[in-house]
Amino acid sequence: MRRWFETLHRGHALVLLSGLLVGACQSPTNDDKIDALGGECQSVAESEFHRAGQPCLLCHDTYEGADPHMSVAGTIFATPNIPMPVADAKVTLTDANGTQISTTTNCIGNFQIETADWRPAFPLHAEIECPIPGSEDRRRLVMGTRISRDGSCAGCHFGPPSNKSPGWVYCAATMPDPPYEVDPNCAGICTETSQ
Ligand code: HEC
Ligand code: HEC
Repeated sequence: MRRWFETLHRGHALVLLSGLLVGACQSPTNDDKIDALGGECQSVAESEFHRAGQPCLLCHDTYEGADPHMSVAGTIFATPNIPMPVADAKVTLTDANGTQISTTTNCIGNFQIETADWRPAFPLHAEIECPIPGSEDRRRLVMGTRISRDGSCAGCHFGPPSNKSPGWVYCAATMPDPPYEVDPNCAGICTETSQ
């Protein structure tokens, strides 16, 4: 329970670092940004469960070419300050032509939409509907502004809220009671303890 949190946290420091690098340098190359993300967690396969909270499209676009190619992808967390993944959150995106697509997050909070399924016309409207622990209700959160061209939610949403980021895409302002929980058997939990 603690472990995935600590390791996720270390990953986040790296994401944050990449954000700082972006701030420091006018036009960092994608390669620099990818290097700043660090390596794979040894216990998590290169799969839909890996690299929670990272900007998926840095690698899964036509530039880097990691399979599958994605048009939009990201991770939904519990609160702005607690990057605990939320499973079964519904993400609905609407493109400039009014075409809509929905998908739900997996046990590590990740979702992805592949270019084979949807090639949206930007800008995009985004909203999420989160499960509420211990309740049948869902909480709807709508992004007020539009996504102009970055298909990675983490391109903007990384770390706690700051002057560089609106914070993780999250379900609740503070941890609800009962709290969100992560399936201990989730394939995305990073148990690598080296370093
Ligand atoms: C640093 C680069 C990088 C980032 C960031 C990244 N991936 Fe990947 N991903 C890979 C590579 C490399 C593979 C292996 C496939 C390949 O080599 O083409 C992969 C594989 C996958 C697969 C395919 C598994 C299969 O068996 O077909 C999925 C799905 C996936 N990643 C989802 C994601 C999601 C969702 C995110 C963001 C939360 C993400 N990835 C972030 C590099 C990345
Ligand atoms: C270009 C930067 C950017 C990208 C990319 C982006 N967002 Fe946002 N998002 C913001 C900003 C800034 C806010 C806060 C102001 C607002 O609501 O527009 C926000 C707010 C939100 C909110 C509302 C939070 C609240 O407190 O109600 C949700 C939900 C959200 N984003 C979801 C997403 C999802 C899902 C993605 C990926 C599909 C995404 N965002 C991609 C910049 C971005």
